[in-house]
Amino acid sequence: DWSMAAYRDEAIEKIRKQVGKGRVICGLSGGVDSSVAAVLLHEAIGDQLTCVFVDQGLMRKAEAEEVVGLFRGHYNIPLVHVDASDMFLNALSGVEDPEVKRKTIGRLFIDVFEDEARKIGGADFLAQGTLYPDVIESVSFSGGPSVTIKSHHNVGGLPERMNMKLVEPLRELFKDEVRALGRELGLPESFVGRHPFPGPGLAIRCPGDITREKLEILRQADAIYLDEIRKAGLYDEIWQAFAVLLPVKTVGVMGDGRTYEYVLALRAVTSVDGMTADFYPFDMNFLGRAATRIINEVRGVNRVVYDVTSKPPGTIEWE
Ligand code: XMP
Repeated sequence: DWSMAAYRDEAIEKIRKQVGKGRVICGLSGGVDSSVAAVLLHEAIGDQLTCVFVDQGLMRKAEAEEVVGLFRGHYNIPLVHVDASDMFLNALSGVEDPEVKRKTIGRLFIDVFEDEARKIGGADFLAQGTLYPDVIESVSFSGGPSVTIKSHHNVGGLPERMNMKLVEPLRELFKDEVRALGRELGLPESFVGRHPFPGPGLAIRCPGDITREKLEILRQADAIYLDEIRKAGLYDEIWQAFAVLLPVKTVGVMGDGRTYEYVLALRAVTSVDGMTADFYPFDMNFLGRAATRIINEVRGVNRVVYDVTSKPPGTIEWE
């Protein structure tokens, strides 16, 4: 793509100008945005860049292995893999409010990045894969008054005491443009086409109190749901699909016994930029198949529901 090749060269120049001889830490989340930002930065400044993948204990099944594998195997980009799950899950214990979850997670991420910066003798910049819609949603929503829907959209929302400056090379791009740039940079199609995944991970797909037990149930159910979506050939038609574990138990019957287990909600939407979205009109047979598999294979879930809310008025994530 001609325009993306030109954009990429411009972006590389801009990064070099901003960063100079400085050292940069880039947090990798497993999502498309941070991966594209990391590869772009690597082209621009080579070994002035250190990538850090923080496993906060809120990843999906096999996510950590996939990301670490891609970066260590395909690129020679130095990658630090930090297992911080105990720290994150302990800090989140008893936290129910979605915004408190986000702020707790955001603060811990910065702590980890600053720690890693110290280990490499200091860093001047923190790189983020902030996109244009993140910037817009922090200013106004649907042209209305200035409100913050979710704190990640509040791009000024980093702790004030942070002593690294920000580098945000994707700040002018929409998701489809980030994907085009990723292709231009040679990222594998399987990675470029991945559904978006939020920085706070499964924490915001587990409304209410988060426990290791609930996260494990959610991880298993989510993997089955996505497996069924891939088998049905629907993955690329959908902008984002995931499961949400509700903090509600209901009565069921299995074999000749009564069960009392969690309700799981399935979500799938189509969208162009994540700012508005429509629920995906699955065939009922598909939903029935996914629900049956989840209930049969995952202990702890005895009822599955499908979310038919579009955005607005719903948001894509439940928290
Ligand atoms: P919402 O739920 O606001 O989501 O309709 C729009 C897009 O943003 C993602 N999202 C987040 N991404 N940190 C992130 O990095 C967050 O706190 C966060 N909250 C939502 C969401 O997955 C969707 O793609």
